[in-house]
Amino acid sequence: MELSELKTIYKIPNHIAFIIDGNGRWAKLRHLPRSQGHIKGADKMEKMYKMVREIGIKYVSIYAFSTDNWNRPKDEVDGLMKLFKKAINTFNQKKYADCHVEFLGDLDKFDKDIKDSALQIMEKTKNNNAFHINLCLNYGGREDIVQAVNKLIAQGKTQVTMEDISANLYTSNSPDPDFIVRTSGEHRLSNFMPWQSTYAELYFPKVLWPDFGKNDLIEAIKEYSSRDRRFGAIKE
Ligand code: IPE
Ligand code: IPE
Ligand code: MG
Repeated sequence: MELSELKTIYKIPNHIAFIIDGNGRWAKLRHLPRSQGHIKGADKMEKMYKMVREIGIKYVSIYAFSTDNWNRPKDEVDGLMKLFKKAINTFNQKKYADCHVEFLGDLDKFDKDIKDSALQIMEKTKNNNAFHINLCLNYGGREDIVQAVNKLIAQGKTQVTMEDISANLYTSNSPDPDFIVRTSGEHRLSNFMPWQSTYAELYFPKVLWPDFGKNDLIEAIKEYSSRDRRFGAIKE
């Protein structure tokens, strides 16, 4: 089945998010260093943007590095930084010329060159709207809420609404995710979009992120399509 045909048969989400998990276990199963799993995982991120776009989904978010991932061994973190640098620069390619690319998270913790390229890409793509990509780097959902509230305080607000908070989160340019897919069979969100995920459909396939392919994506869309979203109301 072609990915572009899915929307003619199934309901598709407007915003899909991936918590990419299992790179380390993928490598371990092959007696390879964890870094090899991250390399494969980074390749898969690029493939995923393409596949998601082919389906006709407008927004994709990928949670690739959490605020808690700094607690990993230094050589693993250093390797990930190299991959992120490459991943960020890929967005200068022509194929992303009509995409709005955002890096969600606290960029101040990254080296200046990484931060500068990330800011430059966000600036360059900010008026595009054919397809939206959010790459979550040094992202924490609670941290996001705190920074949003601090922005509002700095604006002089003494009382806030839900709209105020949503408008000041890193995700302010994206609708809430409809569908959150976490690979590797872990059933948790690990600080991913706690504010935005209140009515998201959650899906936890066992497959490890580097192995997550086209057929797994098709299965995921079928699963999403089978869900009955009620948002607290009653449906006839
Ligand atoms: C996901 O894979 C990538 C990151 C969180 C950076 P992991 O590195 O968490 O892989 P496992 O969970 O150890 O298998
Ligand atoms: C969640 O994966 C964070 C990302 C995918 C970036 P982790 O592997 O860090 O999460 P835990 O520690 O299993 O909850
Ligand atoms: Mg993990």
